[in-house]
Amino acid sequence: MFSTPLSSHVGHGEFTDVYDPAEDTFLLMDALEKDVNEIKKLSCTDINPLAAACSVESAKSNGVNIQPIITDLVTGLLPRLQNQVDVLIFNPPYVVTPSEEVGSHGIEASWAGGERGREVMDRLLPQVSSLLSSHGFFYLVTIQENNPEEIMQSLKSSSLQGTVLISRQAGREHLSVLKFWKT
Ligand SMILES: C[S@@+](CC[C@H](N)C(=O)[O-])C[C@H]1O[C@@H](n2cnc3c(N)ncnc32)[C@H](O)[C@@H]1O
Repeated sequence: MFSTPLSSHVGHGEFTDVYDPAEDTFLLMDALEKDVNEIKKLSCTDINPLAAACSVESAKSNGVNIQPIITDLVTGLLPRLQNQVDVLIFNPPYVVTPSEEVGSHGIEASWAGGERGREVMDRLLPQVSSLLSSHGFFYLVTIQENNPEEIMQSLKSSSLQGTVLISRQAGREHLSVLKFWKT
């Protein structure tokens, strides 16, 4: 069991417009704890510059060094990291919203997932297979409305096998963390 990372700076002051860790964050942390031996080195991206700055602060507070890249999904990592990524983790904006709410670079980008909550994650899914190394893993947070079964079926056509690693009811959300690897 790892202690919960310090995050009291998130969602306040200069980091007001940054997603405050919530049930989805904690479910993801529980899922990753199961696989901690596979996760040694991180790089991260975010479309919200304040979220990237906040991640640096979070890392510092918890004795970790990271260099976030401000970019749309994995754009800033390609093609350099093609077939190189051992661990890819995405807690996406998964909430079902009007499509017009998708595409913000501010706090709305934390939740606005558009139709079926899939509009952002569906842009990443086709890129996962070409990013992962032969022994790489992809972790994705979903809610029921995203249709996780369909996501697992559709990634099969990119030779990615998937499983539900952990699920939890959190208020109205039925959250799951899916895990994928190359077959
Ligand atoms: C649900 S929050 C998760 C925040 C944090 N990783 C966590 O688990 O608590 C979703 C995050 O994805 C970022 N995001 C949304 N759309 C993005 C995109 N197209 N490219 C990169 N990051 C994006 C948001 O800015 C937000 O920080």
